[in-house]
Amino acid sequence: MPPQPEAAPPESALPGVRIGDVLVPGRVFVAPMTGVSDLPFRRLAARLGAPYVATEMVASAEFARGRPDVVRRAAVGEGLPLTVIQLVGADPLAMAEGARLAERAGADLIDLNFGCPAKEVTGAACGSALMRDLEQARRIIGAAVAATSRPVTLKMRLGWDEASRNAPALAEAAQALGVQAITVHGRTRAQFYRGVADWAAVREVRQAIRLPLVVNGDVTDAESARAALAASGADAVMIGRGVYGRPWLAAAIQQALDGRQPFAEPGPDERLGLVLDHLAESLRFYGEGLGLKVFRKHLAWAIEAAPWPASAEARRAARARLCRLEQASQVQAALTALWLEPERLAA
Ligand SMILES: Cc1cc2nc3c(=O)[nH]c(=O)nc-3n(C[C@H](O)[C@H](O)[C@H](O)COP(=O)(O)O)c2cc1C
Repeated sequence: MPPQPEAAPPESALPGVRIGDVLVPGRVFVAPMTGVSDLPFRRLAARLGAPYVATEMVASAEFARGRPDVVRRAAVGEGLPLTVIQLVGADPLAMAEGARLAERAGADLIDLNFGCPAKEVTGAACGSALMRDLEQARRIIGAAVAATSRPVTLKMRLGWDEASRNAPALAEAAQALGVQAITVHGRTRAQFYRGVADWAAVREVRQAIRLPLVVNGDVTDAESARAALAASGADAVMIGRGVYGRPWLAAAIQQALDGRQPFAEPGPDERLGLVLDHLAESLRFYGEGLGLKVFRKHLAWAIEAAPWPASAEARRAARARLCRLEQASQVQAALTALWLEPERLAA
């Protein structure tokens, strides 16, 4: 009998997910979220152990023209072990230029957004609108893959609507064009964020492709992560809204999946340190005024996600009060006071 080639280790034996020449060192990815996943947030999540945190979507045509606020979305920096830049666009040439720029900016992975449901995005024939036009989708994917030496990945939904759930066909086409991993949010565009994510439907994509597959939608803890992986057969989960106010979530879920530790939320002192660090980073990145404005939504989420003050009403009152403060120093002082004496101050 001729010597048999040594079998590659099964994917599930790897400590993470291999995407082209990149080994993502874990199976719980943090989703690209516009208005959330800026550099300060990505750094914080990465520092807390998230193996993969994507940028906000970066409009490729505006990126290529150097529009400052768009270039800022693609910002990379120290403290990011893995850089994932997500591009959105309708034009193959602009997407190719976006991919070249993303590589030059330091991207390890370049993700294409074929899932965004927002009217301004689909109205411009971008995001999930591309699931309705597979020819154009193919042209865009081909142009991006040809323009960069970095692995290109694709994020999509189940389809445009119930009547056109074509994620398996798009995934198959993407694989043939050289895409190296696929993420599927288990909703259609028509659902926006309504209803529940259909993880079992993502299994049809699993059956259509050999590539690493990431399942997304409504994963918020270890239990939902396990259920999503089991239902879809995916290699990894991607978490979005669950990280609001909980930037440690990817690492906590990963530890629970590995059986290393039960799922654990950090205690008060650690949370306070993280919120104050995040505020300081935001002020550094955007400057004082804009830094505080952008940070307010993270501040609100941090207070909502904290287990104190004990009553939800008191938390809401504290959140409203702290989000009205105009000076960063006032926010720092009020946060510290809230954390130290939550019940008295919220009263
Ligand atoms: C505020 C917000 C912004 C988002 N921005 C993006 C984006 O820029 N690119 C993208 O591919 N998806 C974006 N998404 C979709 C998420 O990446 C994710 O697919 C979706 O929220 C479902 O996951 P979840 O249920 O864990 O939140 C966004 C979602 C939210 C809530």
